Amino acid sequence: MASALVKRISAVTLVGFVALGPVLLFAGGATAAYKYKSTPYQTTRKNAGTPNSDVVKKDANGVVISYGNTAIMYNAPSSSLIQLGQALFLQNCASCHGNEATGVPANGTGGAYPNLVGLGPATIDFWIESGRMPAANPRTIEATRRVPRLSHGQALAVSAWVDSLSPSYPSIPTPNLGIANVSDGAALFALNCAACHTIEGDGDALANGTFAPSLRHIPAVQVAEAIRTGPANMPRFTGNLSDYQVNDIVKYVTTEIQHPNNPGGFGLGGLGPVAEGFVGLALGVGVLALVGFWVGERH
Ligand code: HEC
Ligand code: HEC
Repeated sequence: MASALVKRISAVTLVGFVALGPVLLFAGGATAAYKYKSTPYQTTRKNAGTPNSDVVKKDANGVVISYGNTAIMYNAPSSSLIQLGQALFLQNCASCHGNEATGVPANGTGGAYPNLVGLGPATIDFWIESGRMPAANPRTIEATRRVPRLSHGQALAVSAWVDSLSPSYPSIPTPNLGIANVSDGAALFALNCAACHTIEGDGDALANGTFAPSLRHIPAVQVAEAIRTGPANMPRFTGNLSDYQVNDIVKYVTTEIQHPNNPGGFGLGGLGPVAEGFVGLALGVGVLALVGFWVGERH
C-alpha cells in the first residue's frame, strides 16, 4: 500500500517537473511581452478548455453553445442576454474600457485599460464575479477580490455581450466535483500552484508589489476560471492540465484548503509524510525556479 502510493506520487512528481518548465517560461513570456495577456485565448489541444472536446453542442446557426466532458462542461452565456449586457457594460465598464470594449491606451503604456475583445466569457465572468471589476482604483498595481458589484446574472449578461463582439474561449466552466480525485488534486496543486499560493493556499507576495492571493472562500467555478484564464500575473494553464486534472485541483482547493480541519488532516488529503516529502521536494525546486526567474527578470 505505502509503496504503491509512493510510486504514484513520484510519477506525478516527475510529470510535474516536466510540466513546470513550460509554465514558468510561459509566465515569463507573458509578463515580459504584455502585462495583461490580452491576446485571445487559443489552444489546439484537446481537453484543455477549448471546444476540441468530447462533447460539442451547437445552436441552429452552428455557434458553439457548450462543450467539454464528464469532468468539466463549458457553457457560453445565453445570447438572449446580449442586449442587457451591452446596457450594463455602457453603465459600468465603458468609462475605462471604451464603448466597444477595445480598451484605452494611456500615453503609450498600452495596457492601462486593457482590450477585452476576444478574451472569452470565462475571463469576463471571473473578473466581475470576483469583484475585481468594475475597478475601484484603476491605478492600483493589482486589482483585488471584493464583494461583487454586479449580480451573477449581470456578469453573465456582460460576458455574453463582450463575447458577441468576437466569439472566443474558454466559455464558463462547470466543474463536476462528484467525480474528482482529491489526492491527485493535492499533488497537482503542490506542483502547479503552491509555489505562488503556498501549500496551505494562504497566498504570498510576488515581485514588484504583486501577490498571489489566498485561495480560501473562492467558489469552484472561479477556481476553474482562474486556472483556465490566468488572471494578471498568474500563468494560464491550457494544454498542460486536462479538464480531469483541473477538476481534481478545484476539488482540492474547495475542500481541503477551504476546510483544513477535515478528517484526513493537513492540506494533502491525508497522503501522509512520504507524500509530503515528495511534495516538499517538488515545491522547493519550484520556488527556487520562480525566485530565479523573478530576480532574473528585474535586470
Ligand atoms: C475605473 C476603471 C475601470 C472600470 C470602470 C472597469 N475596469 Fe476592467 N480593468 C481596469 C484596469 C485598470 C484593469 C487592469 C487591472 C489589473 O490587471 O489588475 C482592468 C482589467 C480588466 C480585465 C482583465 C483583462 C485581461 O486582459 O485579463 C477584465 C476582464 C475587465 N477589466 C473587465 C471589466 C468589466 C467587465 C467591467 C465592467 C463591469 C470593467 N472591467 C470596469 C479598469 C476598469
Ligand atoms: C506564478 C504564480 C502563480 C501560480 C503558479 C498560480 N497562481 Fe493563482 N494567482 C496568482 C496571482 C498573481 C493571482 C492574482 C491575479 C489578480 O489579482 O489579478 C492569482 C489568482 C488566483 C485565483 C483567484 C483568487 C481570488 O482572490 O479571486 C485563484 C482561484 C488561483 N489563483 C488559483 C490557482 C491555482 C489553482 C493554481 C495552480 C493550477 C495557480 N493559481 C497557480 C499567481 C499564481
